[in-house]
Amino acid sequence: MNKINSLKEYKEEYRKSIDNPEAFWSKKAESFTWKKKWEKVLNWEFETPQVEWFIGGQLNITENCLDRHLDTKGEHIAIIWEPNDPNEDTVRITYKELHKRVCSFANVLKRNGGKKGDRICLYMPMTPELAIATLACARIGAIHSVVFAGFSARSLEDRINDATCNIIVTADGGYRGAKTIELKHIVDKALETCPSIEKSIVLKRTGGKVTMKSGRDVWLHEELEHVNDICPAETMESEDALFVLYTSGSTGKPKGVVHTCGGYMVYAEYSFRNVFQYKDGDVYWCTADIGWITGHTYIVYGPLLSGATTVMFEGVPTYPDSGRFWEICDKHQVNLFYTAPTAIRALQACGKEFVNPYKLTSLRVLGSVGEPINEEAWHWYNDEIGKGKCPIVDTWWQTETGGIMISPLAGITKLKPSYATLPLPGVQPCLVDSDGHEIEGNDVQGNLCIKFPWPSMIRTTYGDHERCKQVYFSTYPGKYFTGDGCRRDEDGYYRITGRVDDVINVSGHRFGTAEIEAAIDEHENVVETAVVGYPHDIKGQGIYAYAICHNVPTDMEAFVVEVNKTVVEIIGPIAKPDKIQIVMGLPKTRSGKIMRRILRKVAEGEVTNLGDTSTLLDPSVVADIIKGAGL
Ligand code: WT7
Repeated sequence: MNKINSLKEYKEEYRKSIDNPEAFWSKKAESFTWKKKWEKVLNWEFETPQVEWFIGGQLNITENCLDRHLDTKGEHIAIIWEPNDPNEDTVRITYKELHKRVCSFANVLKRNGGKKGDRICLYMPMTPELAIATLACARIGAIHSVVFAGFSARSLEDRINDATCNIIVTADGGYRGAKTIELKHIVDKALETCPSIEKSIVLKRTGGKVTMKSGRDVWLHEELEHVNDICPAETMESEDALFVLYTSGSTGKPKGVVHTCGGYMVYAEYSFRNVFQYKDGDVYWCTADIGWITGHTYIVYGPLLSGATTVMFEGVPTYPDSGRFWEICDKHQVNLFYTAPTAIRALQACGKEFVNPYKLTSLRVLGSVGEPINEEAWHWYNDEIGKGKCPIVDTWWQTETGGIMISPLAGITKLKPSYATLPLPGVQPCLVDSDGHEIEGNDVQGNLCIKFPWPSMIRTTYGDHERCKQVYFSTYPGKYFTGDGCRRDEDGYYRITGRVDDVINVSGHRFGTAEIEAAIDEHENVVETAVVGYPHDIKGQGIYAYAICHNVPTDMEAFVVEVNKTVVEIIGPIAKPDKIQIVMGLPKTRSGKIMRRILRKVAEGEVTNLGDTSTLLDPSVVADIIKGAGL
């Protein structure tokens, strides 16, 4: 099997993957079920860009996630579902049952007009039906577009319209901690301006009151009564789109990152198996939401392709109390655990008394993803959760990369806190300076690029290939630019230092500062805003907004409440600013560009070392801002 067992093997594999990538990936791909074998492994150029893997191959990813395990693992648990309320029953779904439920759901989609090539939006709570719906789309060859159920009606509407989805799958509501979120109401609001949607399929989860629009809205449980559980898997070309997932960039509205069937499948399985050193029978839990790429690749596809047991958790880490994660680890005897630094820091801050009641003896590997993990959090995770005996895999990757790119292999790679360490086989990172020259050697720092294609890389941005080219392939021609800064130390280890563009990472969630500015600007009293990130103890980065108002608010508290409300309406609760400062002007250059560097410094509490301010149109603005910040 495609499994690396030692550092020596890693080095050999890495070498092979560089010397002959086609032979390397061809061998990996052979372990899957293909309806038709590929004719050529790779075609690529990074200018247009055009990247194709396993060309001419035909497959269906769900046959690889489900059907191919039925003989050997039919009775094995595929999904353990842990509900928000610990008193509600856990649900365990075997591979055999999951196969049937995916087929039935696929038939419901077909019954409602779903077919190959359609875009289907999933806006759902973390219930088994979300994983099932995801796979059901793939089963019939429809492109799923999962939208995190914490996004607002406006964000949902934008995403549905950008991909012209014809079906949405949702729920009456969802539970998150003590809160109930009325998803159907949000969907109803969004659909007022989504002409492409013909059907809305609704899961009954909370039993809350909803209105069903006749001809459009149907209940999932009623639809399931009309279908059987047999659904042959649609034949897909390797390069047919599997899904689109929206993510933020430094400019404009979020863009739909497109991943395709063949390459994504091969890389999802390969990276899962090797990074976590998955062993047959392991129980694996990734705490992300399926609404993010982490959930796509490492809750659904990677684990199921590997025949693993994947835990899905509906709730939040602090409900009913801050010991919930550890309680679940013990309850389901979790072996491999994958979470985000923001969760680690938040739980660390709650104190050891929430960890101490639990044994945590089943844990073997701990993972981290989404943002740099600071040393303090790394050590707490290592000592208190891993009890000093579980390797921590700090996995660097992005929505666009589809899978983990730079990471230790658990128990194999020597660890160094806050370092993502080494690239996976097949991944060719490089650092470039601002002129685009590659920086060779070790003990250097630069902008992180990838100079050779890997199977699960972004193929396009939905409906706008030019944007894909501009954002990722134009800054440093011939290379994929990640947007991250990075250091390569004396051992050749990579350490991600954070974004170098106008993207901020708040609790592992990615936003463009422009996107948040546009939302705040919709408040009627706001003339102009500038948003920057600043270091935040728990969230990694907090959101700091500088706002120019028509009338300086007399009641600042009320103003903050209103601005927050505006942001929640336009983006969602996760984008609420942490700090708002009213300013009379923004530091602009003579050409009208905001000097964010200065705003970042002030947000960090720094008033000296503001750097070169000689191009400022009006330097007095800066003094006012510093004063206004109370520095
Ligand atoms: C950005 C991608 C990929 C899953 C979740 C986030 C940052 C991600 C790490 C890490 C330092 C990291 C980068 C990256 N990031 N993982 N281990 N160490 N930074 O996906 O929303 O596409 O965000 O998250 O800045 O570019 P995403």
